[in-house]
Amino acid sequence: MDYLELGYEPKDNELLSCMVVKAENLKKAANDIAGESSIGTWTELKTMKSEIYKKLKPRVYEINEMGKEGDTNIGLIKIAYPLDTFEPNNMPGTLAGIAGNIFGMKSLNGLRILDFRFPKEFIKCYSGPKYGIKGIRKLLNVMERPLVGTIVKPKVGLNSEEHAKVAYNSWIGGCDIVKDDENLVSQDFNKFEGRLHKVLECRDKAESETGEKKIYMPNITAPYREMVRRAELVEDAGCEYAMIDVVVLGFSAVQQIREEGFNFAIHAHRAMHAAITRSREWGISMLALAKIYRLLGVDQLHIGTVVGKMEGGKDEVCSIRDEIVLEDVKEDNKNKFFNQKWHGLNNTFPVSSGGVYPKLVPEIVNIFGKDVIIQAGGGIHGHPEGTVAGARAMRASVEASIEGIPLSEKAEEVSELKKALEYWK
Ligand code: 3PG
Ligand code: 3PG
Ligand code: MG
Repeated sequence: MDYLELGYEPKDNELLSCMVVKAENLKKAANDIAGESSIGTWTELKTMKSEIYKKLKPRVYEINEMGKEGDTNIGLIKIAYPLDTFEPNNMPGTLAGIAGNIFGMKSLNGLRILDFRFPKEFIKCYSGPKYGIKGIRKLLNVMERPLVGTIVKPKVGLNSEEHAKVAYNSWIGGCDIVKDDENLVSQDFNKFEGRLHKVLECRDKAESETGEKKIYMPNITAPYREMVRRAELVEDAGCEYAMIDVVVLGFSAVQQIREEGFNFAIHAHRAMHAAITRSREWGISMLALAKIYRLLGVDQLHIGTVVGKMEGGKDEVCSIRDEIVLEDVKEDNKNKFFNQKWHGLNNTFPVSSGGVYPKLVPEIVNIFGKDVIIQAGGGIHGHPEGTVAGARAMRASVEASIEGIPLSEKAEEVSELKKALEYWK
């Protein structure tokens, strides 16, 4: 079967995919990828009808040679898939095609999907985020600055009373948000239900003492039915958020939990994403995953910090930010390979988390602007004077960064910030 149609002008209603391929023969590789990801296989088929080919044939419309490594050629390839290839509103089914078998093909020495372009008809089948940045800002009543969050530390090990106490201290110190860590679920020493109720009691107390809205994001990650049970507990307890580990849960669970119709906002932690996104040779870019999670409907998504403990450079992280925040994204040929319009789908609040502490905050604000949730775990609970002081220092650093005041100046007013700056040089 021939799927090469170089120079073809893709239609608005086609789903587009862009990837870097390493193979001896790029044209053959591109053709094989197009077939294997949609209607074809390794040989001609007696069962293939000309109508199927006509209606569903993918088109390789661009191959750009990028270089050579020995006998291997490296190329950027773009494929257009007719929308009828896919079932509406079935993300796992869609990905089984466009991001499925192709990664295992022997003839390839590398395959990395960089970007997708989802057409309007495709987007309209998905829920998207319930709240988006606007809805979340309204919920918290914080309009003009980044939100300040913390992750209770140690990651696991505290009992539910201790956990609640750390949450309370974080809130009264100035955090807007307290979240569980990605690997805290319902261990014997800290059961989900007990923790939920104890932390929410502390939230109410912190709210009445500070006069600020405070948010708790319990991690409901679990096998699906149990996750729904925990989601119901969250909803019944009057908790406005639930947190899920989107990559380990899988696309089906993420899509479905959003579609259950719960009222809570969804915070998405991306633990394990790097197994898929980090290699430059194989896998799927974080940009492409982030677009999928926006479609599936997470209100907040970890996208990296640039300056913190996890990998991810500025260009890459900013392009992910644009893709989950903007309505109309332009291609830049570096990280974004398509213009993507989101057709009114709500956006997703970017979360900058992982190795953050007060000194890094001005740079984070400089990179992201005000629409970012800045989270620090160690950078709060590792403060020499403890959690309350750590939260004060983080909040002060966020406020100073937005007001354009150097941290050293703010530190003259806020002794906890001064301590933090001295401690984490
Ligand atoms: C953590 O859990 O330590 C981090 O949030 C992971 O960072 P990420 O946002 O880069 O996934
Ligand atoms: C997260 O889940 O976002 C983190 O655990 C970040 O933790 P850290 O601030 O201690 O790196
Ligand atoms: Mg964590």
